[in-house]
Amino acid sequence: MSLDDLKREAARRALDHVEPGMRLGLGTGSTARHFVELLAERVRDGLSVVGVPTSEATRRQADALGVPLTTLDETPELDLTVDGADEIDGRLRLIKGGGGAHLREKIVACASKRMVVIADESKTVETLGRFPLPIEVVPFGLAATRRALDDALRASGCGGELVLRRDADGRPLHTDGGHLILDAHLGRIADPEGLADRLDGQTGVVEHGLFLGVASHAILATRDGIVVLEAPRAMGKAD
Ligand code: A5P
Repeated sequence: MSLDDLKREAARRALDHVEPGMRLGLGTGSTARHFVELLAERVRDGLSVVGVPTSEATRRQADALGVPLTTLDETPELDLTVDGADEIDGRLRLIKGGGGAHLREKIVACASKRMVVIADESKTVETLGRFPLPIEVVPFGLAATRRALDDALRASGCGGELVLRRDADGRPLHTDGGHLILDAHLGRIADPEGLADRLDGQTGVVEHGLFLGVASHAILATRDGIVVLEAPRAMGKAD
């Protein structure tokens, strides 16, 4: 089975969590894309759900496939978000944002009673940090924010190179929100909560890709079958 087949299997299993009438957060990336495709098949068979996309790419895909859409302004509370991840540790702490959508992804996931992560087995790690941590920043004052971030990372014990993300044409990549992304090449994040606290308090930073205490379940597709993990302490919100 290819990694893409595994992603589709994880996405298929996530449909078991979807019930008629649900308000869904729709993730971004190649795994979430499978989920939206499979969800659209169910919608065509009569399933009634409504979705909030986490990116313009997902909005376009869902719209083209006929999945009914809404916004968080119209529907501020969601039942379930299904999204991919770039790294997942044993406590379901995540790095997200490889696709540059982590700001909307975090807003949507936090507005949901549950977040189910779907991924192939290559995303699981002992310690977060091998995947560069996306840090979304406002364009104004980029050099100053970058300098402050360097200091913050060093103070967190995880210094590493900050690389401005660029698009395929080599221009600085702008997110759906019009911001820039600095990818922090850290190698190892020994204390994700401590680092997240520092980044949350950093002026100029809009959002970072550490999702801590957000995911309730992870559906991991391995070559030996599906493994479902549950967060040690499920999200504090009622089902
Ligand atoms: C999008 O910004 C990311 O958070 C994605 O969820 C993440 O990059 C996973 O993408 P894939 O499913 O393509 O691996």
